[in-house]
Amino acid sequence: MSTANTVSILLDRIRGKQARIGVIGLGYVGLPLAVEFARGGFDVTGFDVDVSKVAEINAGRSYIPDVPQAELAEVVRAGRLRATTDMTQLANMDVADICVPTPLRKTKDPDLSYVVQALEGVAASLKVGQLVILESTTYPGTTDEVALPMLEARGLKVERDFFLAFSPERVDPGNPTYLTRNIPKIVGGHGPASTEAATLLYAQVVATVVPVTSNRVAEMVKLLENTFRAVNIGLVNEFAQMCHTLDVDVWEVIEAAKTKPFGFMPFYPGPGLGGHCIPIDPYYLSWKARQNGFECRFIELAGQVNASMPEYVVNRVGDTLNNVRKPINGSRVHLYGIAYKKDVSDMRESPALDILELLTRRGATVTYSDPYVPTLKHGGHTFDAVAASDALRHAPDCLVICTDHSSFDWKPVVDSGVPVVDTRNALRGYTAPTIVRLSGRVVAGAPAAV
Ligand SMILES: NC(=O)c1ccc[n+]([C@@H]2O[C@H](COP(=O)([O-])OP(=O)(O)OC[C@H]3O[C@@H](n4cnc5c(N)ncnc54)[C@H](O)[C@@H]3O)[C@@H](O)[C@H]2O)c1
Repeated sequence: MSTANTVSILLDRIRGKQARIGVIGLGYVGLPLAVEFARGGFDVTGFDVDVSKVAEINAGRSYIPDVPQAELAEVVRAGRLRATTDMTQLANMDVADICVPTPLRKTKDPDLSYVVQALEGVAASLKVGQLVILESTTYPGTTDEVALPMLEARGLKVERDFFLAFSPERVDPGNPTYLTRNIPKIVGGHGPASTEAATLLYAQVVATVVPVTSNRVAEMVKLLENTFRAVNIGLVNEFAQMCHTLDVDVWEVIEAAKTKPFGFMPFYPGPGLGGHCIPIDPYYLSWKARQNGFECRFIELAGQVNASMPEYVVNRVGDTLNNVRKPINGSRVHLYGIAYKKDVSDMRESPALDILELLTRRGATVTYSDPYVPTLKHGGHTFDAVAASDALRHAPDCLVICTDHSSFDWKPVVDSGVPVVDTRNALRGYTAPTIVRLSGRVVAGAPAAV
């Protein structure tokens, strides 16, 4: 069959919503995408190695806060979404969309083992007319240098027999405004037919699709976005430490600076970077650049500053206890929030874990509250969350706000008179001598903009 015929059959199947879509990896990225395709009228099969996730989906239960229970239950009940661990069913798919993890090894080198494993499943059942899309964040070149040879190994040819594209996922867990369906989708194919097929596919369920000239460009777009965030957060974290030295409130500085209507975008300091993207993705890029003899100085420097923030916070806790003549050793320190950001349950790479570990190592007795993380295994210890309403009953010596979940009630915290280190500016609007901000003095009644 000619390329034109192969691609036009696939395009027709996509337009007619007859294309069967396989989403591989049903986590923070894959599950919302699978549900979106199913809501858009496609027949979707989710593939995962985790039997418990597969069972939850087939029972119509959502385990990702951004996927509303009712939406998932509806598409499962309607028979438009099912999940399986059986990768041989990939043979029945027109589209295989790969959304598996891309972590780092201990050496900070890319760990592509999940991607390679998923690709082995796809390659084993690859057939004429299929579209394979990689969504996992990775270094530029992965689609052509890793995926392509695996897929062509059994004789099928890209752009003639099957199609291959990269489309980075940009989902922002916990963001109620921007969801899979209204975040513009970047698509870069191996060639024009691949780009056309993947663009048409996403256009069925995403409001804006932005095709680029190659999968390498699409891979790089995602890394520019995440490196931009990592570097700017690194800058503002260093700025916060500098402001502390100069006795200036960094939050007030940012609020005033962001009134400039052009040329400035606010980033906020905090206890450090967390999650599966910003602390990790830039290292995929610096690794690849290094392979080609290029050193990414901004990425390394931002990484150092951001990684130093938990230590900085612990030093602030030490200073705070010192002010009331207590050492860290033997003090009771209570942490608010373990998840890496507000209103999510994800605690991968969370800086709160580093703060917990550093304080424990220095002899503090650490407890925590987090409505999204009921228990926690870390550093060989198991911790059970204390209800936020009970935290003050255990006579803590110091409180630390690591994550400002919306459900936390800060008034009793401030009223308790216990020193509180606020890494998120959660206590803006409160004035009390016990509040210790990430940087600078507390200035009562800062003037408002007029
Ligand atoms: N979480 C985010 O906010 C976010 C945002 C944009 C991009 N990304 C990127 O998307 C990718 C996925 O991230 P995530 O947060 O969804 O990860 P996740 O850990 O939440 O989900 C990944 C899923 O893949 C499954 N899996 C692992 N190996 C598999 C295999 N061989 N076959 C089938 N399933 C397999 C896991 O069991 C898990 O359910 C990563 O590359 C990440 O960098 C994540």
